[in-house]
Amino acid sequence: MLLAATAYEKPTVANNNQQFTIVIFGASGDLSRRKLTPALFHLHSIGALPERCRFIAFARSEYDDQTYRKLLFDVASDSYGADATKWVEFAKEIRYITGSSNDLESLRHLDEMIKSDTAGQLEDNRLYYLALSPTLYEGTISALSEAGMLDERQGVRRLVVEKPFGTDLESARILNENIHARAAENQLFRIDHYLGKDTVQNLIVFRFGNTIFEPLWNRNYIDHVQISVLEDLDVGDRAAYYEHSGVLRDMFQSHILQLLALVAMEPPATNDADSLRDEKAKVLSATRKPNPQQAAENSIRGQYNGYRELDGVSPASATATYAALRLYVDNWRWQGVPFFLRSGKALRRKYTEIAIQFRQPPHRIFDVEDASGLVPNKLRIVVQPDEAIHLTIDNKRPGPELRPQAQELSYEFPMGMRDAYERLLLDAVAGDASLFTRADEIELSWAVIDPYVNAWETELASQLYPYAQGTWGPIAADQFIAPGRYWSNPIG
Ligand code: BG6
Repeated sequence: MLLAATAYEKPTVANNNQQFTIVIFGASGDLSRRKLTPALFHLHSIGALPERCRFIAFARSEYDDQTYRKLLFDVASDSYGADATKWVEFAKEIRYITGSSNDLESLRHLDEMIKSDTAGQLEDNRLYYLALSPTLYEGTISALSEAGMLDERQGVRRLVVEKPFGTDLESARILNENIHARAAENQLFRIDHYLGKDTVQNLIVFRFGNTIFEPLWNRNYIDHVQISVLEDLDVGDRAAYYEHSGVLRDMFQSHILQLLALVAMEPPATNDADSLRDEKAKVLSATRKPNPQQAAENSIRGQYNGYRELDGVSPASATATYAALRLYVDNWRWQGVPFFLRSGKALRRKYTEIAIQFRQPPHRIFDVEDASGLVPNKLRIVVQPDEAIHLTIDNKRPGPELRPQAQELSYEFPMGMRDAYERLLLDAVAGDASLFTRADEIELSWAVIDPYVNAWETELASQLYPYAQGTWGPIAADQFIAPGRYWSNPIG
């Protein structure tokens, strides 16, 4: 049964009468050209950004404004071409500056340019987006600080930082410490683009806007939780990065643990950024940190066939492109409930789902011969590609006998969902940090993931299972979740 979908709402204007300058460092890179600029264009064309919003693209490559604008257009002509007039209006607000983001002279030049643009105006608000290699974060932030460009006396100065934030707990701690020496936590917006996805935000509304699920959302009624982030794409041209990162650092530390935190957290007192992030942090800190033996027993890892032949990958590479973990959240609500998390590259389909598997009814009164007759309730929250919520319930099978049959109640989200980056850019401009990860969350997430990364480097590690591309990953993953439990794969 399909419930009716409501139309997608246009975002509201962030703060219309503000003056804002958005600077993208690393503007000639892929993220900027493929994701950020199309997102900004769309926000601009629907009037969701402040009216006096200017864009400065900053990178090392030598371009002039015209060449850079053309480059942008060519990369995402699908996004811009449909509305040529709006593109022209938007493009004329983009200026390009050649420079190094950690070089004081280049930054001073940038600063002068923004100041002369905003001269005579009351405010000079800025958003610096670091679409840079993580190795440049510290140098850039320190140079910005030295140039006085993080000083908030003339207007806000916000920093948006992409993932990965550190490569383990220790490096994340050091990075946080060094950044905090130059910028306050409330100036920092650490991106986890999964939090910008509509269905992910819906988890908050779904859990805390309804009364019917919350009383069941605990160890008394839930058998286990599954979070699957499956990708059909392989590592593509990012092999050199991926070889050092692997699936745990690339997907689990950030996206998957954020999903887990939203599923498992207690109701926050309000929906302001800190209440929400406090609750997520509590879940992460209650998530069990296994010793090496336990970490090895509660995980399996795989690598797709063909990965070792890629450029930048060692022929004997032990990097996992697939992982499944069994985690426990040690608190009253979740004691003893396993959270099965999995993610992998080069799988059959792109599919992200959170599945809440409820327990069997305590006593069966029906005679059921075939196993499909009586299934425990399952709630599936599909994050992508087709956002939906499905609830499996048992109903009477039509006919003379009193026999149950499993059916699904479904709600499919309307089409036209915008890219996660739009939501996040808009929030960063508005100064709403709810959908950005705080320093403690980042460190707590590394503290959860590090034991698995480390265990896999010891002799305790289970075998690295090869799997064929286009499958659901290693067969061993099915044994890992068994007995009596099965991965919730999409049909087809
Ligand atoms: C990124 C990872 O953070 O997320 C990539 O580095 C991954 O490896 C991507 O492909 C997945 O994002 P999405 O939105 O396509 O699910």
